Amino acid sequence: MIDRPRRLRATPAMRRLTAEHRLHPADLILPMFIREGASEPVPISSMPGVVQHSLDSFKRAITDAAAAGVGGIMLFGVPEHKDATGSGATDPGGILNVATRVAVAEAGGALVVQTDLCLDEFTDHGHCGVLDADGRIDNDASLVRYRDMALAQADAGSELLGLSGMMDGQVAAVRDALEEAGHTDTAILGYAAKYASAFYGPFREAVQSSLEGDRRTYQMDPANRREGLREIELDVAEGADVVMVKPAMSYLDVLADAAAASPVPVWAYQVSGEYAMIEAAAAHGWIDRRRAIEESVLGIKRAGADAVLTYWATEIAGWLR
Ligand code: PBG
Repeated sequence: MIDRPRRLRATPAMRRLTAEHRLHPADLILPMFIREGASEPVPISSMPGVVQHSLDSFKRAITDAAAAGVGGIMLFGVPEHKDATGSGATDPGGILNVATRVAVAEAGGALVVQTDLCLDEFTDHGHCGVLDADGRIDNDASLVRYRDMALAQADAGSELLGLSGMMDGQVAAVRDALEEAGHTDTAILGYAAKYASAFYGPFREAVQSSLEGDRRTYQMDPANRREGLREIELDVAEGADVVMVKPAMSYLDVLADAAAASPVPVWAYQVSGEYAMIEAAAAHGWIDRRRAIEESVLGIKRAGADAVLTYWATEIAGWLR
């Protein structure tokens, strides 16, 4: 017998040496929630271990992430007041923009400070864009808001804007606004292939979403693989510096397609429901928590992700040291 694949599995050292993929702290991005007016961190019941930060706990968590070598943080704001146009998103004193300034100062260049660019946290109807007179999503009016939001975030010091609203033309619109204002170094992450997913469930609690109904007229249909590649290609053509596939675990085929075709880095978002499932099963003693976490993120990297947004970023980075 010549072919004995088991030779390379014989010892821990041999397995380590011959591993095709591995996790690294720099490839991990920590999503964080900052709640306006909070004096203490507020737990999110459907995401055990994740909180809505106060500004103080936020600073400590950034220091911890940076010390662990995490590559970046992605910020989401939880405002006290919402309205139809999501005005808190473009207010320099809005919670996300305030938190961004705090993060940039706290991080001191040790990791990349990134911001979610989407209106849903700030609108009273909970949609990612603004509505027209008939209550339908107004794509092009939403782009006008995104342009202003991009400038507010870039002014606050965000280094990379995560365009997660799934409006057509959003990358081109934001790139144009940034160039016009001289923000030529602000990078754009296009949430290119973002699917209308049940796995965002716990996130809705995390940001206290006001959404009724769903996002199926703008987020993608989970049935579609080819269309995922089309969205990736459009975002790259519009000037995205990085593209995203989201969620991760149920869309590894789309991720592999994107990784094979994309000329820019491809990231994946291990979303709130993916986190919650593993935490819940582990809490019941049904799976080995650490092994399941490592395997889930490694699988996302193996499928082609250059970096992974995961709520376990700091914890995993700590294990890797
Ligand atoms: C939209 C946004 C969502 C998530 C990230 N950005 C919610 C949605 O599209 O409904 C979900 C992330 C997660 O579930 O962890 N701003």
